[in-house]
Amino acid sequence: MANYNTLTIEQLKTERESVLADYRKYLAMHLSLDMSRGKPDRRQIDLSQAMLGAITAPEDCFSETGLDCRNYGLLDGIPEAKRLFAALMDHAPDRLIVCGNSSLNIMYDTVMRFMLYGVGHGCAPWVKQGQIRFLCPAPGYDRHFAICESMGIEMIPIPMTPTGPDMDEVERLTALDPSIKGIWCVPKYSNPEGVTYSEETVRRFAALSPAAPDFRIFWDNAYIIHDLYEDGDPLLNLLNLVEGTPQEDMVYEFMSTSKITFPGSGVSVIASSRGNIEYIKTLMAVQTIGCDKLNMIRHVKFFKDADGVRAHMRRHADLIRPKFETVLSKLDRDLAPCGIASWTHPRGGYFISLNVMPGCARHVWQLMKRAGVVMTSAGATYPYGHDPADANLRIAPTFPPLSEIGIATDVLVTSVKLAALEKLLEK
Ligand SMILES: Cc1ncc(COP(=O)(O)O)c(C=O)c1O
Repeated sequence: MANYNTLTIEQLKTERESVLADYRKYLAMHLSLDMSRGKPDRRQIDLSQAMLGAITAPEDCFSETGLDCRNYGLLDGIPEAKRLFAALMDHAPDRLIVCGNSSLNIMYDTVMRFMLYGVGHGCAPWVKQGQIRFLCPAPGYDRHFAICESMGIEMIPIPMTPTGPDMDEVERLTALDPSIKGIWCVPKYSNPEGVTYSEETVRRFAALSPAAPDFRIFWDNAYIIHDLYEDGDPLLNLLNLVEGTPQEDMVYEFMSTSKITFPGSGVSVIASSRGNIEYIKTLMAVQTIGCDKLNMIRHVKFFKDADGVRAHMRRHADLIRPKFETVLSKLDRDLAPCGIASWTHPRGGYFISLNVMPGCARHVWQLMKRAGVVMTSAGATYPYGHDPADANLRIAPTFPPLSEIGIATDVLVTSVKLAALEKLLEK
């Protein structure tokens, strides 16, 4: 297979006929496949089924403090759940709050609180400070961008590099502009590129000196223990780095068990400085009497300790690693020689990021859709859904069964080739 960039017009036309014939073959199969959202598959979810039986008798429902988890009380979560998550996140239990079923929900609430009440320390609510701006490393997580968009927060895209966001830009812009109040970060196995921030990147975050005293880092550690291989990527602990420094209130870290136990029925966590946690608790106390403690105790009884969670995640990895490897081996074998696309080789997380020939991502997405394979919309990985190069697509290999991943990737390879050939023949 030749590099498309070296082919003559005639050769490109011949290749297009052959790829078109493949594409028609897939159309005739009337496929209905979904590689759009990062969802665990049925077998992954089944791994946690026994958790539902972890509390059956009334006595099972009491926390170690003697508190009846079926009743009201305890705003920040039961102590044994705080200890479990503190061990996983490598923080002290008094630096976190165990919350309800979704980390996205707490991120939304946190931004909303800062809009309405400010970040504390006598800082004015963001809504009273004129136009608010957030830095958005891109490609990134579309739902982070949706929070900003829905609240009228202007998003400034920051290029992603193989070591994390472009820190020169982050430092330059935050030092310059006091209207920049936040940055979204997925520091481990980022969504969608699978990038883990390097030690230097995390140290530069810890040393940031923004013009806005109420600038905050939203450290969404959604894939904190979601390694595909035994030797997971190491990530420096930002919260521990800033503890006791002038930056210690600048960081909020989030995680959840959505992709550990049950998406939508897990437990989430917010961690920060002790001062910030106290501040959040005063605001939370108005909103709720407490989160679902029965779910917390279920999680603790099921896992016992952090090692129990890690062992469970190895079972997840055994199920999804073959899916990632199927996609990657097909891309490496069938697409790489054409010289028209590049992709990431993540060692964890839920996504593979694919960059097709500039100007082709939307076309590839449409070709996929016509052939019955749903992908996340082209552009979704950029603020306002606008990918300036129209090049990035997010592949989510976890949800479809392994038997369908191969064919879905074949359709993808064919669509990427077809879109590139048409682009090259347009010139
Ligand atoms: C980076 C990131 N953060 C948060 C979430 C959602 O987490 P939760 O289910 O806890 O709301 C996802 C889900 O895909 C994600 O990729």
